[in-house]
Amino acid sequence: MGIRLETTWDHPEVRRLVTAAFGRRAEADLVDKLRETDGFVSQLSLVADQSGVVVGHIMFTHITLESDPPVKVLALAPVSVYPAFQNRGVGSALIRRGLAVADERGEPLVVVLGHPEYYPRFGFVRASTLGITSPWPDIPDDAFMVKTLSAYTENMKGKVRYPPEFDAAEQM
Ligand SMILES: CC(C)(COP(=O)(O)OP(=O)(O)OC[C@H]1O[C@@H](n2cnc3c(N)ncnc32)[C@H](O)[C@@H]1OP(=O)(O)O)[C@@H](O)C(=O)NCCC(=O)NCCS
Repeated sequence: MGIRLETTWDHPEVRRLVTAAFGRRAEADLVDKLRETDGFVSQLSLVADQSGVVVGHIMFTHITLESDPPVKVLALAPVSVYPAFQNRGVGSALIRRGLAVADERGEPLVVVLGHPEYYPRFGFVRASTLGITSPWPDIPDDAFMVKTLSAYTENMKGKVRYPPEFDAAEQM
């Protein structure tokens, strides 16, 4: 299994994969919409390729941390592995590679809304412990996490602002 950049040829397969992983279309719609936004980072839309079959996908896009001054940070969303390929390290490989690429690019911080049992193994901590808050009042504190990278500085605090494309997926 290798991790590589997503290409336009992968888009239909990525859509099938994301829909299968989440069991609904909202996250696949989100991926399609995010590719069209200014926040899209082509270096950070990655697929896990097993002998020519796309078995996993991850996307990191730019969002804004409303610190003083505001700073561009990354949102990790979504990450998807075909159900038949889950629990074999594919998701971990995608996350680790994405975080390494983000660090090399000089990105300071990655934000994720996700499973509190899963992300701490990659160095994610509760965002609230660093003074970073989500725009959604109803999500559990432990599900909103951040991973600081080499370029992070302590003044990076405040509320995270997501583009509207995220609203539909978050509210479902
Ligand atoms: C979450 C997901 C990306 C993980 O990828 P994966 O390749 O299955 O994960 P890995 O093999 O790297 O890691 C396996 C670990 O993840 C944990 N894990 C998998 N899905 C999980 C979930 N929904 N909640 C909590 N932990 C989960 C497993 O329990 C396992 O933990 P262990 O190592 O302590 O036994 C994948 O299961 C998936 O696509 N799920 C459906 C979509 C989804 O929920 N995406 C993430 C949204 S935050």
